Amino acid sequence: METAFIPFDRAADIYDATHSFPAGEERAIAALIAQAGNLRRESCVLEVGVGTGRIALPLARYVERLYGIDLSRPMMKQLRSKPDASAIRLSEANAPRLPFRRAAFDAVLLVHVLHLIADRRRALREIARVLKPDGLLLCGGDTGDMLQGELFAPIWSAWRAALPAEKIESVGLTQPVREALPPLGWRPVGAPWQHSYTVQRTPNGAYRAIEERQLSNTNTWRLSDAELEHGLRAVRAAIAAHFPQPGQLLALNVTFEVQAFQPPQAIQHTA
Ligand SMILES: C[S@@+](CC[C@H](N)C(=O)[O-])C[C@H]1O[C@@H](n2cnc3c(N)ncnc32)[C@H](O)[C@@H]1O
Repeated sequence: METAFIPFDRAADIYDATHSFPAGEERAIAALIAQAGNLRRESCVLEVGVGTGRIALPLARYVERLYGIDLSRPMMKQLRSKPDASAIRLSEANAPRLPFRRAAFDAVLLVHVLHLIADRRRALREIARVLKPDGLLLCGGDTGDMLQGELFAPIWSAWRAALPAEKIESVGLTQPVREALPPLGWRPVGAPWQHSYTVQRTPNGAYRAIEERQLSNTNTWRLSDAELEHGLRAVRAAIAAHFPQPGQLLALNVTFEVQAFQPPQAIQHTA
C-alpha cells in the first residue's frame, strides 16, 4: 500500500520564509542536537525529511558525515541552492524504505516529520535497522510558535471548530512524538534538551499563513477553496473579537526540544 503523504513540493518556495529560525538561533539549535546525540566529528548522521536544510546545514559544522533523505525534490532543490549544501549527502527516498545498509548511522534525526508519515511503524523499523547498536534516534521540534502558542489559541480554536476534524488532522501522529515512541518500545535517554528563543508574529500574519496555505500543520493543503474560505471566515471573526490591533507584532516564546531515544532491541536484532 502506498504511504499517505502530505506533499511538500508546493511549500518549497515559501518554507524558509515561514520556518527559518531567528538569526543565530540555528547555531544554538544545532549545538543542542549535537549534545543530545553525543555527536562527534566522526559521527555518521542521517536526517530523515531533511527538507530545505534548516536543521542539517547548521548541523554539518558538527559532523563530517551527514546524510539527508526526503520525498520532495523541490524541498531538496532549495537546500542544494544554499552555500555549504555539498556538506550534506542527499537522496530522494521514502522514510519507510531507507536506502542504507544495516547499522550505518550513529544517529538518525527527525524534526517535524513523523506526524506526516502514515506508515510510521514501518518508518521506525527502518530507522532502527539503520542505527548502529548504540545509535540514537533524535526527535526534535519547536513548540510555542504561532501554531501552538497560547497567545494565538483563539485563532486556532476557531479554525478547528469551523472544519471537520478528519480534514485537518495529521496523517500520522496526533500526539506528541515524545509520547508516541515509548509504547512502541523506544526508550528515552535522559530528559529532553531544550533551547528557548523569541519570535515576533502578528495575528494578521497567522491569517495570511492560512490564506496562502503556507503551513502543513493546519492541513490547508487538503482543503477545497470553499472549505478554506469557511475556515478563514471563522478566523476573521476570532481575530476581530480577540485582537484589537491585528497588525501589531506580538512576542512569542518558542522552545526547540530534542529527545534522544534508543531503539527497541527486539527490532534491531531481527531487522
Ligand atoms: C515540516 S518539513 C521538515 C523539514 C526539516 N526537517 C525541518 O525541520 O526544517 C517535513 C519534510 O519531511 C518530508 N517528508 C514527509 N514525509 C516523508 C517521508 N515519508 N519520507 C521522506 N521525507 C518525508 C517532507 O517532504 C518535508 O520536506
